[in-house]
Amino acid sequence: MSTKKGPLTHHPIVEHFEEWSAPVNGNKFLEQLARHAYRVCNYDAVKDNYDTFYDSFGKVGTIHFAVKANAEPHVLKALMAKGAGFEIATYSELRLLIESGLTKEVIMQKVNFGQTQKERLDIRKALQDGVRNFSTDNIHDIRILNEEIEDLDIENKDIKLQIRLFNAEGTRSGEGFSQSFNKRYGVNGEQAIELAKQILDYGMTVSGFTFHPGSGSADPTLWDYGIEHAASLTKRMKEELGISISTLNLSGGFDPAVAIEDYRDHLLPKIEAAYKAEGLPAPEHIDTEPGRWLVANTEVLIGKVSNIKINEDGTRIVTLTTGVSENGTLTGLGLDYDYFILKYGKAHKLEKREDVRANIHGRACADFDVLEEDIAIPEELHPDNILADKVFVVIHGAGAYSHYMERNFWCGITPPMKLNYTDFKNCITSEESYELALVNSYAERSGLPLKNAMTFITDRTSDKIGAIKGAQIAEILDNPQLLNKLGMHLLHSVADFVHENVGKK
Ligand SMILES: Cc1ncc(COP(=O)(O)O)c(C=O)c1O
Repeated sequence: MSTKKGPLTHHPIVEHFEEWSAPVNGNKFLEQLARHAYRVCNYDAVKDNYDTFYDSFGKVGTIHFAVKANAEPHVLKALMAKGAGFEIATYSELRLLIESGLTKEVIMQKVNFGQTQKERLDIRKALQDGVRNFSTDNIHDIRILNEEIEDLDIENKDIKLQIRLFNAEGTRSGEGFSQSFNKRYGVNGEQAIELAKQILDYGMTVSGFTFHPGSGSADPTLWDYGIEHAASLTKRMKEELGISISTLNLSGGFDPAVAIEDYRDHLLPKIEAAYKAEGLPAPEHIDTEPGRWLVANTEVLIGKVSNIKINEDGTRIVTLTTGVSENGTLTGLGLDYDYFILKYGKAHKLEKREDVRANIHGRACADFDVLEEDIAIPEELHPDNILADKVFVVIHGAGAYSHYMERNFWCGITPPMKLNYTDFKNCITSEESYELALVNSYAERSGLPLKNAMTFITDRTSDKIGAIKGAQIAEILDNPQLLNKLGMHLLHSVADFVHENVGKK
């Protein structure tokens, strides 16, 4: 293991702690945090992360960013500029890529449709937009893919399929989050041979094997089973079906707390050895589909501790002002927490103690609003400690799998205020900047539902609204100034509407 760490906690909030915490008006800051969490964004981090990932895996194959992890246009564009490929789970993700400027040429070469259990309409639209690489693990998927290519007159052999294999012997690969993929995805060796025969019968190409060990797999040996399985099947496919499989797609699962060199130093020699043991050269392409590793540190959430309860068995129940209910699937997602206490209005970092354990919850009145169970917290988080009312928490890793699910979903909780580091710094020191940021943040948010609304309205439902093109809306959503202007326009219209229609009998 290297002494290096992964990018999980690299964020201006940590790196410039003195700069923002020294001038902070502590009590005002806590008041703000009681109203809403902060989501502090640093999307440029994805560029460094990609470069670091590329140094380890860029020379052996294509790196496909898993769009589901964070579809922020800034992130997608930065990765496009780097020449990255992309993994999509739905057609909507491809739309987001196209709206961010991905060309048909790149789509044909570097987009993997990674969901193996696809909707026919998604397949059709993806084919029309140029996608030629698909993962699969079932006959139904292969059949409808074939029907669609026949209908669209696409050359069968140009369709390249990766067969998704099981990642472990049983239903779980490891102990981390999302490691029970085998319950839904993947096939065993015999099934893989049957799928390959079906693909060949349709005249399509079997291009590779893939498997996903589970998101946030800190232990690189969790890939071993899939690698060995892929190596032995590569040999069988050659002997039994006469085909050469040139790609091994290691998919995602890389934990951003772990240095990518640690994965490389285990995985590349492991692949070499496993293929050699079967009398084969290493695969020509060793592709990857990282999601979480590339974007986890592009956002942090900052919330405040609201309540601490001690259960009968000594477990502490810590309730924060932010959690799963307003941020999507944050549960156990390899997050990391830093705790700060305000003393005389200034922030001081608290040390976590392994022997003081807690379950961390958001403020919804539900047991599923749980961020983490049984993790180390500082001793100061105790119900008898009056200073515990002045503790705030920086939640690392919120850039992956949370932003796009953010919603006002349970108990009417206000979603976090989203801004970059500089605006955050201004907000916590100046009341004027804070008031402005509040309006801007919610103005911008009010524009977002339009994106969904627009997909339903056609010129049959409304002449005027239906005439607006999706691309025009995309242009607004992509431009922070325009989006803000639109949000303000909506808020003003609401105000006019209220004046004209409400409270008049
Ligand atoms: C097919 C596929 N590829 C890549 C990923 C990205 O995984 P991660 O974010 O853990 O790297 C996922 C996530 O579920 C996936 O299903």
